[in-house]
Amino acid sequence: MALMVIISTLFCMLSLCLLATIATEFPENSNLETYIVLLEPSDAQLFAESGDLEGWYRSFLPPPTTTEGSNDASRLVYSYRNVIKGFAERLSPEEVKEMEKKKGFISAQRRKILSLHTTHSPSFLGLQQNMGFWKDSNYGKGVIIGILDTGITPDHPSFNDEGLPPPPAKWKGKCELVPASLCNNKLIGAQYFVQDDQNRTLLDEDGHGTHTASTAAGNFVKGANVYGNANGTAAGVAPLAHLAIYKVCSFGCSESDVLAAMDVAIDDGVDVLSISLGSLYNSFYEDFIALGAYSAMEKGIFVSCSAGNGGPFNYSLVNEAPWILTVGASTTDRKIRASAMLGDNEIFEGESAFQPKDFTSTLFPLVYPGSNKSDDYAPYCAPDSINNTDVKGKIVLCKFGLVPAVDKGQYVKAAGGAAMIIMNSVYGGYTTLANAHVLPAAHVSFVDGDKIMAYINSTKSPTATVFFNGTAIGNGRAPAAASFSSTGPCYASRGILKPDILGPGVNILAAWYTSVENNTKTKSNFNIVSSTSMACPHLSGVGALLKSAHPDWSPAAIKSAIITTAETVNLENKPIEDQQNLLPADVFATGTGNVNPSAANNPGLIYDIVPQDYIPYLCGLNYTNRGVGMILQRHVNCSVESKIPNSQLNYPSFSIVFKPTVQKYTRTVTNVGVANSVYSAKIVQPMGVNLAVEPTTLKFSKLNQKLTYEVTFSPLANPPNISNSQGSLTWTSEKYSVRSPIAVIIDTGLFQLQH
Ligand SMILES: *[C@@H]1O[C@H](CO)[C@@H](O)[C@H](O)[C@H]1NC(C)=O
Ligand SMILES: *[C@@H]1O[C@H](CO)[C@@H](O)[C@H](O)[C@H]1NC(C)=O
Ligand SMILES: *[C@@H]1O[C@H](CO)[C@@H](O)[C@H](O)[C@H]1NC(C)=O
Ligand SMILES: *[C@@H]1O[C@H](CO)[C@@H](O)[C@H](O)[C@H]1NC(C)=O
Ligand SMILES: *[C@@H]1O[C@H](CO)[C@@H](O)[C@H](O)[C@H]1NC(C)=O
Ligand SMILES: *[C@@H]1O[C@H](CO)[C@@H](O)[C@H](O)[C@H]1NC(C)=O
Ligand SMILES: *[C@@H]1O[C@H](CO)[C@@H](O)[C@H](O)[C@H]1NC(C)=O
Ligand SMILES: *[C@@H]1O[C@H](CO)[C@@H](O)[C@H](O)[C@H]1NC(C)=O
Ligand SMILES: *[C@@H]1O[C@H](CO)[C@@H](O)[C@H](O)[C@H]1NC(C)=O
Ligand SMILES: *[C@@H]1O[C@H](CO)[C@@H](O)[C@H](O)[C@H]1NC(C)=O
Ligand SMILES: *[C@@H]1O[C@H](CO)[C@@H](O)[C@H](O)[C@H]1NC(C)=O
Repeated sequence: MALMVIISTLFCMLSLCLLATIATEFPENSNLETYIVLLEPSDAQLFAESGDLEGWYRSFLPPPTTTEGSNDASRLVYSYRNVIKGFAERLSPEEVKEMEKKKGFISAQRRKILSLHTTHSPSFLGLQQNMGFWKDSNYGKGVIIGILDTGITPDHPSFNDEGLPPPPAKWKGKCELVPASLCNNKLIGAQYFVQDDQNRTLLDEDGHGTHTASTAAGNFVKGANVYGNANGTAAGVAPLAHLAIYKVCSFGCSESDVLAAMDVAIDDGVDVLSISLGSLYNSFYEDFIALGAYSAMEKGIFVSCSAGNGGPFNYSLVNEAPWILTVGASTTDRKIRASAMLGDNEIFEGESAFQPKDFTSTLFPLVYPGSNKSDDYAPYCAPDSINNTDVKGKIVLCKFGLVPAVDKGQYVKAAGGAAMIIMNSVYGGYTTLANAHVLPAAHVSFVDGDKIMAYINSTKSPTATVFFNGTAIGNGRAPAAASFSSTGPCYASRGILKPDILGPGVNILAAWYTSVENNTKTKSNFNIVSSTSMACPHLSGVGALLKSAHPDWSPAAIKSAIITTAETVNLENKPIEDQQNLLPADVFATGTGNVNPSAANNPGLIYDIVPQDYIPYLCGLNYTNRGVGMILQRHVNCSVESKIPNSQLNYPSFSIVFKPTVQKYTRTVTNVGVANSVYSAKIVQPMGVNLAVEPTTLKFSKLNQKLTYEVTFSPLANPPNISNSQGSLTWTSEKYSVRSPIAVIIDTGLFQLQH
């Protein structure tokens, strides 16, 4: 098990480069580094009451010095109010040692740099957002979505404010765009939190932030397309919601900046936070996004985060806290078809967004410049291997890996190659990307790539070409779980099933900063990109629609509605597949399934959680009082609190770590459907255990009535030798079907708590 974890971390660092785990330090002048200093929350309370929290923070700072290269005025980077009690400060190791002696000090941690959850390869494909309950939810009108990302392209047509009212009275945020008139009723706020960037521009110089913002809440734009592909009306999931932009990333995203943005967003009055970045952590109190999200959740803010791109390895999830919605990536039914054809006439269908009309698909000599064919991570088609191979006028087979696929195409083109076939590694499986390549290309699956390799081996003078078939809609195998989407079990709390849900994250068309066609800055630029970064803002948008339709629902109620109504089958009515191997995806890849927004609008029953419920949950994780206090930001004494096993939290799904003893858990459901209704339990038994529910019928007589049931997991007389299994519990009435997926992890005693 420990070995798997190491491998998955390695994979994250070497492969797709759209991965979540690289934690590095920014180089800084002199010996000063930015630390996040945590202080005792109970002491902080006293100073907060007397209105001098910042004065107390300052009492921890070292006396003014003449340290070379430092400017004392700028050393205090942030004073936090909501998300933690403490501050970020540029300090030397000696100064940290001094600070440790002061009363009220908890810890000083050098900030880590978090990664955006996306690929850098520009690519393009379209997604038509036609959510069933746009009308009921007023298209998210009046709801504010806060986006923590790389900034914004304010004059992009996706951010026009046609049909939007002015921001609600509770909005207290700022617009720091220059000129401020770039803000409008769509873009109501834009604030800057990148400590290390001298440019200090809110403009999105990457594209990621513009893409995620327009995916969550872009307004309608007709005729959006890339190279003519995926042509249609672009719109975000909540097209009439307001957007508040918090720029926290330029090259990487610093923990202290992310925390500062969350701190301010809470005061600004956002309703939803959309966070497509993160890193692996062992526990929630070490994870600053989890800390910030806890404070946000307490204020009723719904927090949606990307699950990470560390799949298909298990325990590769980020943003796992139960008060966060953790979103994995699925495919849509649209493909931008580009095929590879070999000299023996065999055809392999793949994808590419660049489909030049003037390319004649004649056969070219086919070469494979890699030499270490068994190594899935070797940087094939990097300048080194290309330059050592004669590729002039040839079609080149490249492997998906360290270097982004579009860059590989650039190397091939620079060396005179005529075209490229890009094949997946075994881990990439069947997930193909429609990238904006610079030369004729087709991205094919691992299995097809392997056949192409065998063909190369089988003949003296292999030949091949690529041809294009444009955009096709209606792929029946969609939605499917993308191979790169991080998979569970949940690492920090195995009693919680994660990811929670899948949303569209493969080949997503949305607004982009520059033109991928000619690299110019023109107004209506769109791009197609893929990652869990793209899936997260879809769910942020769904959260905004639900907030609009049900203003009284808590963040946990919104999550419950999304989780219990998810789609578990594809368009062909077969179980959702995992694109790593095309087998039915398990719950550790899908969570509960693919989001179904209109069903989530009317879930029948909800599993609610109030902030208080997290105290016995966190104490039950055996965190120290200090650890729990860091999350709740007040003193908690777990020896006088009740404790629950983590599977007992009132979560809308189940994850059970099974030892051969009887385990009982209860859940409480709230009736939000029909006043008089009767639900009966339907169980799909997980293998290896016996599951029973008591009572098997729930009779409601009024709305908002709560009823409790108990599930019992008992050992079998002859248990099969398996490591995990899955099932489900569905409460059905005449009108509703409320489904909870169940994961059973057989406890082998080998699990080690170390990422
Ligand atoms: C600052 O702007 C310059 C010029 O536009 C750009 O090359 C550089 O990468 C930017 N730096 C950062 C940290 O964004
Ligand atoms: C996109 O579709 C619109 C409406 O059907 C059409 O007017 C426009 O020419 C199309 N653009 C491209 C590039 O195909
Ligand atoms: C984790 O991955 C390994 C290797 O793929 C697999 O054998 C095992 O069953 C997985 N464990 C869980 C709990 O999914
Ligand atoms: C192949 O592997 C060897 C040994 O690991 C390494 O030195 C070499 O650079 C690799 N070649 C390529 C093309 O990756
Ligand atoms: C490989 O070729 C490219 C394009 O000709 C060139 O830019 C690059 O410097 C070369 N790299 C090496 C390692 O020779
Ligand atoms: C192609 O041949 C090489 C050795 O020449 C071998 O290592 C590799 O496995 C072969 N590939 C396939 C797909 O047969
Ligand atoms: C795809 O394009 C090729 C070459 O233009 C053509 O022969 C073939 O019929 C097309 N296939 C489909 C399914 O449209
Ligand atoms: C770049 O693209 C824009 C928009 O598609 C177009 O108006 C412009 O003419 C293009 N420029 C070049 C040099 O192709
Ligand atoms: C916490 O400690 C108790 C007592 O040692 C143990 O039974 C329980 O499994 C632990 N919980 C977790 C989540 O490790
Ligand atoms: C926590 O409660 C226990 C039991 O009442 C008590 O002995 C202990 O001193 C308390 N700890 C703190 C830090 O208050
Ligand atoms: C259970 O399966 C594992 C691997 O599949 C094997 O190593 C182990 O010996 C098996 N245990 C029993 C009791 O059969």
